[in-house]
Amino acid sequence: MRKTLFFFALVALMSIGKTFADEGMWLPMFVDRLNYTDMQKMGLQLTPEEIYSINNSSLKDAIVGLSGGPTPTGFFCTGEIVSEKGLLFTNHHCGYDNIQKLSSVDHDYLADGFWAKSFDEELPTYGEMTASFLIKMENVTDSIFANVTDNMDDKTRSAEIRKVTTRLKETYNEDGKYNVVVKSFFEGNEYYLFIYEVYTDVRLVGTPPSSIGKFGGDTDNWMWPRHTGDFSIFRVYSAPDGSPADYSENNIPLQPKYHLPISLDGVQKDDFTMIWGFPGTTTRYMTSFEVETSIEELYPTVVDVFGKQLEIWKEFMDTNTKVKIQYASKYAGVANTWKNYIGRIRSLNRLHTINKKQETEAQFDTWLNANADRKAEYGDVLETFETYNAGMKDFLSTFYYVQLTGLGAEITGLGMDFGELAQIMAPINKKELPKDKKEAEAMKEQRSTEANQLIETFRAELNEFYKDYDATTDQKVFAEMMKMYIKHTPENLQSAYVTKSLKNYKNDYEAFAAHVFNTSLLSSKDKIEAFLNKPDYKKISNDPVVIIANEVMAGVMSMAGQYREINAPMAKAKRLYMKGLREMNPDKVYYPDANSTMRMTYGSVQDYQPADAIHYEFVTTTKGILEKEDPNNSEFIVPARLKELIEKEDYGPYSENGEMIVCFLSTNDITGGNSGSPIINGKGELLGLAFDGNWDAMSSDIVFEPELQRTINVDIRYVLFIIDKFAGATNLIDELTIRQSEPKPIRTETTL
Ligand code: ARG
Repeated sequence: MRKTLFFFALVALMSIGKTFADEGMWLPMFVDRLNYTDMQKMGLQLTPEEIYSINNSSLKDAIVGLSGGPTPTGFFCTGEIVSEKGLLFTNHHCGYDNIQKLSSVDHDYLADGFWAKSFDEELPTYGEMTASFLIKMENVTDSIFANVTDNMDDKTRSAEIRKVTTRLKETYNEDGKYNVVVKSFFEGNEYYLFIYEVYTDVRLVGTPPSSIGKFGGDTDNWMWPRHTGDFSIFRVYSAPDGSPADYSENNIPLQPKYHLPISLDGVQKDDFTMIWGFPGTTTRYMTSFEVETSIEELYPTVVDVFGKQLEIWKEFMDTNTKVKIQYASKYAGVANTWKNYIGRIRSLNRLHTINKKQETEAQFDTWLNANADRKAEYGDVLETFETYNAGMKDFLSTFYYVQLTGLGAEITGLGMDFGELAQIMAPINKKELPKDKKEAEAMKEQRSTEANQLIETFRAELNEFYKDYDATTDQKVFAEMMKMYIKHTPENLQSAYVTKSLKNYKNDYEAFAAHVFNTSLLSSKDKIEAFLNKPDYKKISNDPVVIIANEVMAGVMSMAGQYREINAPMAKAKRLYMKGLREMNPDKVYYPDANSTMRMTYGSVQDYQPADAIHYEFVTTTKGILEKEDPNNSEFIVPARLKELIEKEDYGPYSENGEMIVCFLSTNDITGGNSGSPIINGKGELLGLAFDGNWDAMSSDIVFEPELQRTINVDIRYVLFIIDKFAGATNLIDELTIRQSEPKPIRTETTL
């Protein structure tokens, strides 16, 4: 709701006062002990057993980790089960990659949307999207540390931990029935084990067109006010007996243990909300030293390189529909990180995060110096961080440039894979070859089997690669990446092939790139298929791209050695710093950093004030969609059907006092991986789907800013409106468990 009204200075007064900002991503098994009383006070009505139970079905059974394989150790997004037939809601940007892969110029589901009218029409993703259900989690710290001692060196320690981890996985997986994952918490001070059941047959059921699911595009990404219908719909299938099974016609829709009911009541300011999902990574206990390294070395480098790639991709996407579809998902992913890092630099600077971290470090220093035992245990910690920061100065940026540019074109990535093949195909060195004839034959045989296996793997993967590959686009990227590579790589680490060729081409990067693309086998599917049908060692080992990839990697490896050296003492320092902080503040309940395990975060619906004299409402409405409409800007096109519905105010049962709410804000503490997570009210009903963080707190992975940090959610009523009124997919609406309390509450408007 971008009403000019909200820019009046008076509004500023209103958001001063109580904020319910809830920092923390909590582990489900401890919710009862650590958070429950607090949550109840804020409005939670469920019992602890209804939330997390390992014996009975509970809310946690409706929360799904999404990944792209059968044995994931982490998840790119979260989904939730919303029907008795395994229907799953997640974000549009979470389904995006699969929707893109299922699209072509003839049936472009990104542009037009897709709605299956029956089970038959649902589109298999063949293991590209898999759904993990958490069976239970356990604290295994004692087992992990049984033979670990304080004075063990890092290597021995890691080896011991790996050994126990492997044993635990074997003990708990029940002959492969479950995927067992062990994760480190609090920087290696605690360990937990997670048992998942992984379903690999997940099918696309419905998606709005990008003009709804990605409305506002990259301009609005990470921003409020937002008007994006960021949802897509999938269904989990199982074998006829309910167990996980790879795609088969015989599979049936999953009968889940639990599915979330949906509320049509909507939200009011201060309403209790909780979000369940799989946040990926945070580093909330990071020191000022590491923040400085990130701001100065890491983020600007990534921004620079990604910015260049995006610029070139966009140039080609804008003029070629095929390229536009081919590069849509890659572009969205890179653009998302690129903008995020720009935001991080800005927020970390504006919010003086380094100073705030320094204050904590000063307290830590005073605390440890007050006692000889502490001094002995923690005395070196801060110095280690300082040394790390100094070591990374002017080094980390170069290290990233070399990798990101040297291997930045898609073709060089492929070059690395084929380099591996070349290595296996290489004639065996005489010295290596056993004297015994039989043994020598066996060794050759073994190599050739390995090569053939790799060739078959490549064959299978290459179809997918070339479907979304445009050599003309990549050639330009390659030229630009090489330019940056030469600029940033120390001379002694530069690829000799690149420097020599550039000399031949008188530093004409375009001509050099044209030569590489003309002569390499990897620049077209036909050439590489012909090679795979008749593999030849000489051909592949002399391929310019394979040579370049190899030589770039040699430089990277040499720098990686130095990186490891600088980084080596950090694991221990981080572990001790974390341990020390908890000891220093014994009354404070610490939550562990996100690590792609199931978490719960609770808070409330809130507006906020991003800067002096600006106030942001906590909801947006469809009015804003028409305000933002711009037929000349692909990011802000409003589909005709949607426009008609909005103009007629034809909202069905989904509006509130005549208005259609699109998105709303809450104070919940989330990060990447939480995308698609359900935001749930005190009664355990679905209110919407979390899908973004906000520009004013892009520092959020490193520090929680209660006054500024908000989660952006798409209101479930807008989701249902799109499914029902826009798409006419009433078959899906009929599957849901929809609740509405009477009488309908009136949203508290902030009145002046
Ligand atoms: N910022 C969102 C996230 O990281 C992704 C939003 C995708 N939308 C977009 N316009 N690229 O989860």
